[in-house]
Amino acid sequence: MRAHLRSPRFPSAKSLVVVALASVAGACGDGATPASRGSSCTDTGSACTLGTAGTEAGLFLGSTSEGAGWTREPVGRLVRTHFNSVTSQNELKWGSLVREPGVYDFTRADETVAWAEANGLRMRGHVLFWHRLNALPPWFRGEIDAAADPEAKLRELMREHVQTVVPRYKGRIHTWDVVNEPLALLSDQIDPESVFFQVFDDYGEFLHLAFTLAREADPDAKLFLNEIFPSMNETSFDGLYRLVREMLERGTPIDGVGFQGHFLLGKPDRATLTERLQAFAELGLLVEITELDVSINLFSAEPDPVAAQADVFRDVYAACAAVDGCIGVTTWNSNDGDTWLDVDSIFGGAAPHTPTLFDADLQPKPAYAAARDAVVASID
Ligand code: XIL
Repeated sequence: MRAHLRSPRFPSAKSLVVVALASVAGACGDGATPASRGSSCTDTGSACTLGTAGTEAGLFLGSTSEGAGWTREPVGRLVRTHFNSVTSQNELKWGSLVREPGVYDFTRADETVAWAEANGLRMRGHVLFWHRLNALPPWFRGEIDAAADPEAKLRELMREHVQTVVPRYKGRIHTWDVVNEPLALLSDQIDPESVFFQVFDDYGEFLHLAFTLAREADPDAKLFLNEIFPSMNETSFDGLYRLVREMLERGTPIDGVGFQGHFLLGKPDRATLTERLQAFAELGLLVEITELDVSINLFSAEPDPVAAQADVFRDVYAACAAVDGCIGVTTWNSNDGDTWLDVDSIFGGAAPHTPTLFDADLQPKPAYAAARDAVVASID
């Protein structure tokens, strides 16, 4: 058994998870909590899924939606059987919700949130403000550039966006990624390519506005800042830590910090990851691993790459379980047949990455048992 490291503001952050899951399960009407789908994980010989272990350990252990495809079988069954949390992969991104300025289409987002709710899964909303990949509508930059006062225009668009999206899911989306990837890659500096950095005189003011709007729109939602590389890159961790301290000093209403965990360039060290999660917990914040995938290509020189991959999953789940402020781990994609890495314009060149807990036939890989056992070992 591993003693939990305590964070000052949340004497038992993991108990918040238990309360939240009970309330989602109550809302779904059938009274089923994720724990009731399997027997106790500490009873020898009993069935124990990752989600069951998570519920017993006070952790949200999730996966992503696949567009709205995860509402269909068999992936839907896989997600609701093995996880107690789900993150919207694309459906809540600004670019997915809004085709033309001011015209929102919530069809897929509504379907996703309703599915999570109906199945008693904690819902992570991803993401309100992000400047990369598919996160902004195509017209966005043009609107800003055409404005007489770009910062005033951006403030107006931000306000409209948060006030349109967040209240719609009030009390149903438990956690929001408010801002994603503030830093340049492997850097401690704000990304100069970020439209938000370019337009706002003061990037801290952008963060403050984003989080304040979200707080006003749903006072009970947990509000997160999410970043790519703090798990495995010291410069990125330092930059994120500094930025978050500045947010706290300014009084920005942030509740948590997400470490994405796309392990393609290197693998995490368990002790270092634990320390870095704990560092944010000691600021009184929640932490989560929000987008975990571990490319098999990291282990091509190992005698047993699949076992080596399982060891990394074990380390990540164990690190989170060891820090009381750490409330969850989410894998980015539920199975190797669906991984975004294989179809990404850059990373796709190194496909197949087989980076998840389940193979393309939806069978659990050794990484699954490693992750679950790490969580079970942490149950008090
Ligand atoms: C990815 C999705 O998985 C893809 O389907 C989409 O084409 C591009 O975005 N970091 C993030 C996620 O925060 O939103 C990204 O998701 C993966 C990298």
